[in-house]
Amino acid sequence: MSHAEDHDGTRRDFLYYATAGAGAVATGAAVWPLINQMNPSADVQALSSILVDISSIEVGTQITVKWRGKPVFVRRRSTEEIEDARSVDLSALSDTMSRNVNKEGTDASDQNRSLDEAGEWLVMMGVCTHLGCVPLNDAGDYVGPTGIGGWFCPCHGSHYDTSGRIRKGPAPENLPVPTAAFFDETTIQLG
Ligand code: FES
Repeated sequence: MSHAEDHDGTRRDFLYYATAGAGAVATGAAVWPLINQMNPSADVQALSSILVDISSIEVGTQITVKWRGKPVFVRRRSTEEIEDARSVDLSALSDTMSRNVNKEGTDASDQNRSLDEAGEWLVMMGVCTHLGCVPLNDAGDYVGPTGIGGWFCPCHGSHYDTSGRIRKGPAPENLPVPTAAFFDETTIQLG
């Protein structure tokens, strides 16, 4: 087999659409409920980039998609959530760094963590940095460490704020932010 044939046969950099339904993951902290639903093949799990349709995500809600074998939260934040996330003094944070999946970091300002300048879109790994459970979002019964929203990991009680930053509990780091960008107006590319 020539080098070219080998490359074509093993390409991993093409894209596919992740079609998780909006609100599919409203509850279920320690479980990743879309695994069976999405039934990814080994090929799909190996893909380095996926496209996520965000057109049906309402303000104040999120979807969870699977990327590189792990859940990723794609949240469309309300104005209240954005204001809450951006009003936090970084000195109040126990982890002042925001890291990507390769542990490369910037400071943990919400401007660094959100996808767009206005801060409407927040894309994060849905994996607690303590022992790896999937934190709950604010499905109605959790107001978060600041009273506005955020995520709670009930496994050992870690609270993340509206920017996914650890504010209380044993988790040592903020939720990582994967490589993401707008592919077009209604699509986000992960990876
Ligand atoms: S795994 Fe989240 S608090 Fe322990």
